[in-house]
Amino acid sequence: MSKIKTIFQCQSCGFSSPKWVGKCPDCGAWNSFIEEQEVQVKKGMSRPSSSSQAMPLSEIPINAEDRLSTGIEELNRVLGGGIVAGSLILIGGDPGIGKSTIVLQMLASLYKTNTNLKNISLYVSGEESLKQIKIRAGRLNVDNPEINVLSETCLENITEQIKSLKPAVVIIDSIQTMFTQDAPSAPGSVTQVRECALKLMFLAKSSMTTIFLIGHVTKDGAIAGPRTLEHIVDTVLYFEGDRGNPYRILRAVKNRFGSTNEIGVFEMRDMGLVEIINPSELFLSERPEGASGTAVVSTIEGTRPIMVELQALVSHSNTAMPRRTAIGVETNRVNLLIAVLEKVGGVHLGGMDVFLNVVGGLKINEPAFDLGIITAIVSSFKEKPVRDTLFVFGEVGLSGEIRGVSQAESRIKEGTKIGFKEAIIPDSTLQRLTFKPDIKITGVKNIEEAIEAAINY
Ligand code: TYD
Ligand code: MG
Repeated sequence: MSKIKTIFQCQSCGFSSPKWVGKCPDCGAWNSFIEEQEVQVKKGMSRPSSSSQAMPLSEIPINAEDRLSTGIEELNRVLGGGIVAGSLILIGGDPGIGKSTIVLQMLASLYKTNTNLKNISLYVSGEESLKQIKIRAGRLNVDNPEINVLSETCLENITEQIKSLKPAVVIIDSIQTMFTQDAPSAPGSVTQVRECALKLMFLAKSSMTTIFLIGHVTKDGAIAGPRTLEHIVDTVLYFEGDRGNPYRILRAVKNRFGSTNEIGVFEMRDMGLVEIINPSELFLSERPEGASGTAVVSTIEGTRPIMVELQALVSHSNTAMPRRTAIGVETNRVNLLIAVLEKVGGVHLGGMDVFLNVVGGLKINEPAFDLGIITAIVSSFKEKPVRDTLFVFGEVGLSGEIRGVSQAESRIKEGTKIGFKEAIIPDSTLQRLTFKPDIKITGVKNIEEAIEAAINY
């Protein structure tokens, strides 16, 4: 008998090494190596019976019905318009954020919306018993006979069930609990997760079944185990949000069938997740009136403008190293803008702590947010409120110039719709506007002009 060969594999990125190492040379994770049996590629792998044929691109048939509406608009949006038959979709997120809840609600609304959908759907849980799933379904008022539930962790058994039941949609909750007999290591290890995902991908493509994989997220936010999973699947959705906050944001980070960075906004209630059709109103609903240190920015998430409130608190620091803390925006970006304010704007924040928070648990990564950050910080520093009916957007350059941004029209229209009366935007964007706005628009060229217009009026 040949000796069993083992290798050490990084549980965070899948890098393998013949020896144990403390720090992964590939992804930099510490103490992430675990000894696993090497997967031997079987000699003489059997050739599939039907070989695929090449065909001209122009003759491949497509029909619109290949996309199935989930009946949940916010979910359709992140998926790029609905579920594509035969696609493999990964939903990641912290434990308890609502992954199992949303997929169960999706299955129910799938049958409500597509009344002619004949095939059943299959919910496979490796974490919960059938009773537990039933209790959750009862709480969500889900009682469809079309939804079949299976409590199973062995991939071979699941595959058999899928082949005989021919479901339209399959949920695997979660991919980390599944194991295949072909891989020797424990469930949850990189090898297992990757092997299972690969097998499910082949199954999805060959049977045109849509498969949703639910993936756990590690403490630092990556989908546990393999980054490689992200390459295998067609679509990656992340569920974001704070535990203490009922709002949940579903974000597409990869989508072969739609635009990325599209978001869907939900609220977790005691009857499950409820979609928020107009997030702007929600994120502004608790805005303090006449307070200094808050600014509203019209920001673009995917294809949709959202009005977001940003709060800043600038106060005297008691430490030699003033603190700069930002929640929802990148701290590096904030440090850069503080340096610009200091050097060009004449706002001296040297001995000051600066705290920033994007209201509603949203994470914004857009240059057009810069002007909002500057406005909120200066407003708090000078203790002068920004007018309640004013919103801003614009990128700030290193020499203090305000740079133009895209999609100005939809940003301005969103603000107008919510009831804002005034906007401060980059001058170059104002010059290029192709429509006549209904509100007062001030174009600014640099941060002095912006501060003047927003605060020192
Ligand atoms: P769950 O979907 O089980 O999270 P995940 O699968 O991502 O781990 O969601 C569990 C949380 O949601 C739990 O803290 C309870 C809460 N919840 C509600 O507030 N309302 C509901 O109707 C349901 C089903 C769950
Ligand atoms: Mg769950």
